[in-house]
This record gives sequence, C-alpha cells and structure tokens, in this order.
Amino acid sequence: MKITVKRDSAFEIYELEDGAYTLLEALNKIKRELDNTLSFSSGCRSSVCGSCAMRVNEKEVLACSYKVQEGDLIEPLNNMPVIRDLVVDMDKSYEMNVKAKAWIKTINSEAVLDHEAEKINEVQSDCILCGSCYSSCPVYAVNGEFLGPFSLTRVWKYVSDKRENDAAEKIDTIQTNGIWDCTLCNNCTVVCPQNISSKADIEKLRVRSSMFGYSDPNFGSFGGGFDGGFGFDGSPSF
Ligand code: SF4
Ligand code: SF4
Ligand code: FES
Repeated sequence: MKITVKRDSAFEIYELEDGAYTLLEALNKIKRELDNTLSFSSGCRSSVCGSCAMRVNEKEVLACSYKVQEGDLIEPLNNMPVIRDLVVDMDKSYEMNVKAKAWIKTINSEAVLDHEAEKINEVQSDCILCGSCYSSCPVYAVNGEFLGPFSLTRVWKYVSDKRENDAAEKIDTIQTNGIWDCTLCNNCTVVCPQNISSKADIEKLRVRSSMFGYSDPNFGSFGGGFDGGFGFDGSPSF
C-alpha cells in the first residue's frame, strides 16, 4: 500500500505492508521503520484529545480514527501556519475564543438548569478543539479575523445558558467578523468528529441577535427575523 504525505516543500510517497492500520498507526510505522524525520501530532489515540487532526484526500479527519487506504494523500490542516510536515500552529484559532468572549461573564446563581435547559447546549461542550472546522471554513480561509466555527459554537453555548446574566456583551461582540460573515456552507458540520454543527449554532446566534435588535448587515431589514419556524430558544425547528 502506498500513501503520499505532504511534507514542508514536497510530497513524499511511502510504501507500507497492507493491513488494517489507522492513519496514526501508519504514520507511527513510517516514523519507526522508514523515516524518523516525519513530524505529526498525536496524543490520546482514541478521538478524545483532538491533536491528530489532518487532511486526507482534502477532507479533515482524526488520524487515530481514520482507516488508511491505498493511494491516500495526507496533508496538514488548512488555514493555519505549518510548523513542520503535518504539525500546524493553532494558536490563532484558539485566540478566537478570547476575541469572541466565549465564556460565562456574570453568573445568575438563582438560575437552575433543568434537563431541558441542559440539552440546549449539551453537544457544544463536546468540542475537542481539533481545528478541523477552521481548516474547512472558506470564510476563515480569506478572512483571518473571522471568529470562526468553534468559537461561535462556544458563544452559543454561553449565550444560551440561562445562568449567564450578560449575554448582550457576547451578542455585541459577534456582530463584526462573526455570525453575518458565515456563508452557512456547512463544511464545519460535515468534518466535525464530535457531530457539532457550528453552522446551526451560528443560525441560532443570528436569531438571538435579532432579538437584541441586530439584523443582517448584508440584507438590511431582511436578515435574521425570528418569526419563521424557529423555536423559543432560537433553535431552527425544521
Ligand atoms: S467544533 Fe468540532 S471540528 Fe471544530 S474544533 Fe470542535 S470538535 Fe473539532
Ligand atoms: S458554515 Fe460558516 S463557519 Fe461553518 S465552514 Fe461554512 S462559513 Fe465557516
Ligand atoms: S490522538 Fe487524540 S484525537 Fe487522535
């Protein structure tokens, strides 16, 4: 079985014995037996830490869960500086959580979360910060200031948390280089290994923004109304 790995300035083909390897096992085998200069990141080997995200045949995967196939083309994540081979610098995308104010600011200690309230933002807590969504995002590719998928997902998590007393500040923050810049292409959702839909969270944030008096700057008064098939929590209900 042959696979091709994009290295700093060239593509290198490696030949492996046939076998049911995960991509991470294949890369470790290459490093151990064929070429110890190959660099990649990994940690848990069980789809939990997010550190082994990379691209195979132009689609983001976790190397520890993807079964490598004959002819695969392995590349680093897109839209992030490559440190070496398959290792990228994700600092800038992490910083978007700070820019987006993606945390609880003031806690209403009297608000009690019942089961229904917990379900509104349960899945968003599963993000493993793998960076796949930023790699797949066409808006982030052309605008490095776009707050981007996982940060906006985190904003939704905290805006929709009834214990947050000051959702307004977060809503204000995501109006520029944020929710209205997203093209709703759904790439981030397709590649997320945790089944998180940042696209859906961005749609909910648009609805919530409308409730705070904002509208889509691209379409004036046509944007973001919450009168057409949206649930009370701002969730689309189709
Ligand atoms: S939202 Fe999904 S794709 Fe994006 S960083 Fe989190 S786990 Fe990875
Ligand atoms: S849906 Fe929005 S955030 Fe997700 S990849 Fe597309 S443009 Fe980026
Ligand atoms: S090594 Fe942790 S997610 Fe793959």
